Amino acid sequence: MTAVSGPAGDLVTAFDAADARLQPFFGRLIALDRVGSTNDEAARLAGAGAPEGTLVVADSQTTGRGRSGRSWFSPPGAGLYVSVVLRPLDPGAPPGTVEWVRLVTLAAGVGVAEGIRASTALPIELKWPNDVGITDGPGPRAADRRWRKLAGVLAEAAAVGRAIQHVIVGIGVNVGQASFPSALAGAATSLEAESGRPIDRGAVLVETLAAFRSAYADLREGRSREVLARWRVLSPTAFGARVAIRGDGAEPEGVTAGLGDDGALHVRVGGRIEPVVSGELRWI
Ligand code: BTN
Repeated sequence: MTAVSGPAGDLVTAFDAADARLQPFFGRLIALDRVGSTNDEAARLAGAGAPEGTLVVADSQTTGRGRSGRSWFSPPGAGLYVSVVLRPLDPGAPPGTVEWVRLVTLAAGVGVAEGIRASTALPIELKWPNDVGITDGPGPRAADRRWRKLAGVLAEAAAVGRAIQHVIVGIGVNVGQASFPSALAGAATSLEAESGRPIDRGAVLVETLAAFRSAYADLREGRSREVLARWRVLSPTAFGARVAIRGDGAEPEGVTAGLGDDGALHVRVGGRIEPVVSGELRWI
């Protein structure tokens, strides 16, 4: 296998070399040098009829975005910025509902966490719904654990009414960033900073795609419980961690009580269990 030059050539080379593990699901990889957001490019392609499994990667993003309107730091060559087109309305897929998108997001988080573990051996954790990071240890309070974020998932659905037309799953992984903007300092880290050695982002891409593909296949074939079981193993904070639920006004505090079968995080507030499906949790 010869290395591919051009935009994100290392990623193209790794993708091509892993043909047997990734095909036929990931049929086409579009590699770009610089783009606003790979999610926007993938959505544009999906709107023009691109099939499920189409991938967009870029070496850098100028307007990469994260959840809740935040931006995603996307400098050239230092990270993995990738988006996948999914089409839950294809024949044989489960109904394309908003609830199903939540499960897709969790499946993507499983893919990223398992992919990073397989390619780096770092003890990655998931934090509901789809933050991927690393901590110093198993203390019960967020402050003791010193969570640092390594990666995230942004799933964006195009829907008509409640029917999903396509879902774009965007994955960002901090691979080699040596420093971050001051607003992220202390809260974000990279695989190289954590492992203290060079990391092959092509290997991270391939392992992540392979793990996501298997989790997504489970979902499509009606085995969402298996995906949720994989997610739970990766997320010690889904049980027994103190959180505050951000709402319009009040911010009730509680303790996480596990992941529901619909992908909601259960939080015990006083004597009752609140299923949290959206909004923000503050880990305290
Ligand atoms: C998060 O806030 O944790 C989600 C971050 C998702 C970032 C990725 S990078 C590739 C894709 N394109 C974007 O603009 N965002 C996602």
